[in-house]
Amino acid sequence: MANLTKGDIVFSRLEIEDRVAALARTISQDYRGHNPVLIGTLKGSFVFLADLVRHLDLAVKVDFARLSSYRGKISSGKISFLYKPRIYLRDQDVLVVEDIVDSGLTARSLIQFLEHEQPASLRLCALIDKPWYRERAVEIDYLGFTAPDKFLVGYGLDYNEEYRHLPDIYALPEKY
Ligand code: IMP
Ligand code: MG
Repeated sequence: MANLTKGDIVFSRLEIEDRVAALARTISQDYRGHNPVLIGTLKGSFVFLADLVRHLDLAVKVDFARLSSYRGKISSGKISFLYKPRIYLRDQDVLVVEDIVDSGLTARSLIQFLEHEQPASLRLCALIDKPWYRERAVEIDYLGFTAPDKFLVGYGLDYNEEYRHLPDIYALPEKY
């Protein structure tokens, strides 16, 4: 494991807390009178989703989707579903909660799948946008941060399953 230092922090726990609270305020206003179904993408979004739902002034339902494309730091380009949401989504207001949109392949595949379920509305909330190597156009309705072109870990984000527990978001040093 890399020995991460304070100098490697890209988004601090305090910055994250402020952004998540602000996102939750906007989402709560936009969905007032509705009870959206939040679909978190496993595993990366589990910390973000947990913080987000506790800031929302809405009664929501929660389910997850797990898609796989990553091997270490490189996207394999092939997307497969490891878990599909089980909640009935037809005529529901569905909000996808993603950790990172990078190539856009994961978000696009999930959104295409969810469109088939005929939800009343379908929007995307992403903690982090990494627009540098986008391969599929993705419209992000609610965005936390735009990240530099670095590999990020912490706050749910991993490198080979390590670092998810860290409260801050770090850039992994280049040699890793
Ligand atoms: P995409 O399909 O290329 O958009 O990749 C999306 C997924 O890859 C995200 O949900 C993350 O789980 C993972 N990912 C992309 N960039 C990073 C990163 O910098 N750190 C950790 N995971 C990442
Ligand atoms: Mg992910």
